[in-house]
Amino acid sequence: MMYTRIAGTGRYLPEKILTNFDLEKMVDTSDEWIRTRTGVERRHQVRDDQTTSDMCVEAAKIAIEDAGIDVSDIDMVFVGTTSPDLVFPNAATLVQQRLGIPACPCIGMEAACTSFIYALTTADKFIKADETKCALVIGAECITKLVDWNDRNTCVLFGDGAGAVIVKPSDEPGIIATHLGADGQYKDLLYYPVGVSKDLHKAGTDEAAITMRGNEVFKVAVKTLGNVAAEVLRKAEIDQSELDWLIPHQANLRIIQATAKRLNLPMDKVILTVQDHGNTSAASVPMALDVGIRDGRIKPGQLLLMEAFGGGFTWGSILLRL
Ligand code: UT7
Repeated sequence: MMYTRIAGTGRYLPEKILTNFDLEKMVDTSDEWIRTRTGVERRHQVRDDQTTSDMCVEAAKIAIEDAGIDVSDIDMVFVGTTSPDLVFPNAATLVQQRLGIPACPCIGMEAACTSFIYALTTADKFIKADETKCALVIGAECITKLVDWNDRNTCVLFGDGAGAVIVKPSDEPGIIATHLGADGQYKDLLYYPVGVSKDLHKAGTDEAAITMRGNEVFKVAVKTLGNVAAEVLRKAEIDQSELDWLIPHQANLRIIQATAKRLNLPMDKVILTVQDHGNTSAASVPMALDVGIRDGRIKPGQLLLMEAFGGGFTWGSILLRL
């Protein structure tokens, strides 16, 4: 049996940090409200001239070095994002060119906050089909560029960043099970109203901003994230008590606590970055993975469950041994 193994990780966070106290000066909010309702204390924000692929390139360089490979070893690139630099070429193609990776399939995946889980799941299938020997998989987002900075309901939640992994085939697990899903009936609860073929003339106006019915999203997120975690464990016939780490999408500390509780996992088995990163959408899971590995908590051989939930709604989970 062929498995997909993570050979290296990396992350990039923009230099600029916005604290809750900075936001108090911008909208009618308070550090206390943001911390108690979301768990966020600070978040990073890109410069106006910085793009998603800029962040991807920095995160990828670190993952490539960590994996001990050369760019010429990479034969497939995936970038999961909802905030690509351009409509085309896709962000994966921009990253391939900028890193000097030889011409190869470059795949952009767009599934809101679940984009990285979608991308890594797809890379896993290509590896198992023997179509790639070394893939670069990135989740990245300039989500602060999609936010209305006068809307306190949303602007306090989000941050920017990029997380990257290098994956390779291996006889040893590896990714053990994956689960993806989406249901467009929830579209109106969380969406960005402007696109290329819809209301493009509104780009750059106040109407072009993330629109969310937070409380309703919250309830579906808690239910769905519990279910997607259970689904990969069921597929793999592994009991939740065997899990070493939960690496959840970092949208809200209370959602993460509810998911951990459903899994009977103590919070010291959960990688938390929401306090420092905010909700970085597609970047949140790979950055949390990198944080946990680099600070020495996540160790080789341990059993990890990654999961995400986002606009669409979309959702997904991956069970793997590092
Ligand atoms: O990543 C994709 C998935 N996204 C998510 O999972 C996000 C899910 N939702 C959430 O995390 C939470 O619903 C929020 C953090 C967005 C909001 O928390 P909540 O406990 O659901 O609050 P709420 O929306 O019910 O609002 C409670 C009150 C409202 O005031 P009234 O109507 O009770 O007077 C809001 O106007 O809090 C008010 N409020 C704020 N107050 C101070 C909303 N935003 C703020 C703010 N500062 N920034």
